[in-house]
Amino acid sequence: MGKPIHVLSGPNLNLLGTREPEIYGRETLADVQARCEARAAALGHAIVFRQSNHEGQLIDWVQEARTEACALIINPAGYGHTSVALLDALKTLAIPIIECHLSNPAAREAFRRETYVSLAATGLVSGFGAASYELAVEAAAGLIGARASA
Ligand code: DQA
Repeated sequence: MGKPIHVLSGPNLNLLGTREPEIYGRETLADVQARCEARAAALGHAIVFRQSNHEGQLIDWVQEARTEACALIINPAGYGHTSVALLDALKTLAIPIIECHLSNPAAREAFRRETYVSLAATGLVSGFGAASYELAVEAAAGLIGARASA
């Protein structure tokens, strides 16, 4: 097995399952992690799954992915809409970056319609609840496979 796919989740996603369940669903972050691990394993990949409420920690993990990951999936949560520093870190990566959201931010408040992360992302999955993460794993695996056979 090659390098793992890194999956990062930003602030408040540790509260998944109880935080605004009408928007984000009732599955916990542990449930989401289990989904990602199962889907990745079926596709022949390992997962490193992490969550932080701290911008600097997320940036450190993005930098780590430069050498330790074959692809990065990131749900930046609120930082997606605010963090130039996170965008700058993402721009240093040469691996595929999948931006992932449980909700569809484009259909919500105006301030959610743009994310800085999109400027660095290879692609975006949003609006499918916990399944967004699984779809992102599938997309990442597909991109890695395409690169390997190029
Ligand atoms: C979110 C959408 C963001 O706008 C919000 O700040 C979040 C979660 C999502 O997964 O739908 O915290 O990234």
